[in-house]
Amino acid sequence: MLDTIVKYQQQIEQALKDKKYGISPKELYEPIEYIMSLGGKRMRPVFVFVGCDMFNGNVTDAIHPAIAIELFHNFTLVHDDIMDKAPLRRNQKTVHEKWNENIAILSGDTLMVKAYQELCKCNTSILPQLLDIFNDTAIKVCEGQQLDMNFESLSKVTIPQYLKMIELKTAVLLGGSLKIGALIAGADETNSQALYEFGKHIGIAFQLQDDILDVYANTEKFGKQKGGDIVANKKTYLLLKAMEMAESNRHLKEELHQWINAPQFSANEKVEAVTGIYNFLNIKELAQKEMKKQYEKALTYLNNIPVNETKKQNLIALADSLMVREV
Ligand code: IPE
Ligand code: IPE
Ligand code: MG
Ligand code: MG
Ligand code: MG
Repeated sequence: MLDTIVKYQQQIEQALKDKKYGISPKELYEPIEYIMSLGGKRMRPVFVFVGCDMFNGNVTDAIHPAIAIELFHNFTLVHDDIMDKAPLRRNQKTVHEKWNENIAILSGDTLMVKAYQELCKCNTSILPQLLDIFNDTAIKVCEGQQLDMNFESLSKVTIPQYLKMIELKTAVLLGGSLKIGALIAGADETNSQALYEFGKHIGIAFQLQDDILDVYANTEKFGKQKGGDIVANKKTYLLLKAMEMAESNRHLKEELHQWINAPQFSANEKVEAVTGIYNFLNIKELAQKEMKKQYEKALTYLNNIPVNETKKQNLIALADSLMVREV
């Protein structure tokens, strides 16, 4: 990874280490300390910095919004893990497993308020603009998360509906991070919006990769339950593509249908069987193809931004690393 990115990551990690969340009641604050200390790629705050640097801004002006976005992201993870009944996050117990659901709800809520407190520390001249994007993005994440839940029990979801859902739940936050960075540096609306679109398409590719890794990752590295999406009948790109391709194969169609509608099943058996169908149909490769398409689309937005090519290198390096990530 480029030196600049590593430096940004260190600055963000230090700012997070220095942060004090609160002490009492400990049932509220310990889960916050816990989730924030488990690491994670810190990719969204790095995006804020990179967006700022691209337009010659000073990244120290971006630290509060950057931290705010990381806090918000962690809040969404705590609640997402309740909704997805996930046992593992970053290779450790999820908050609702380690404590309980009520604790995960309330510490998540507090984390979201902490995100707003952090954002409000930024320069007041730009705060209204940043709040607008932050709010718009936060609402979209909730819309995406609700669609994700709705889709679990829908038998027919199209690929365009899926792409819209992941744009909302995941991609807009990456786009928003870059745009916030750009605005702090004083970029105009056209350029900051182009950067947003770049981030959005990278974000869609990122979620496609997340769906692939859910099935195919080395669990130790990835730190999440293997096949959690299969168990929950998540309408991922992999499942939708498999359903589409199984249309012309009666045997496969019935097998897939049976697993999706099984009222009771062994989780391991279901994951193994559905993964077998994915493998047979080469679904992983098809998902990677869609990722590539989104990546190329993202680049077209970056190409149109009139800044020196060297200023784009950090962002391209970051995007490239996300395309081949294992965590
Ligand atoms: C996980 O995000 C949630 C998704 C949008 C897929 P990350 O993969 O960025 O999680 P951390 O913060 O690095 O753990
Ligand atoms: C997460 O999507 C999106 C948000 C947290 C908003 P996933 O449910 O796929 O994320 P992971 O895989 O649990 O990290
Ligand atoms: Mg999840
Ligand atoms: Mg989820
Ligand atoms: Mg996932």
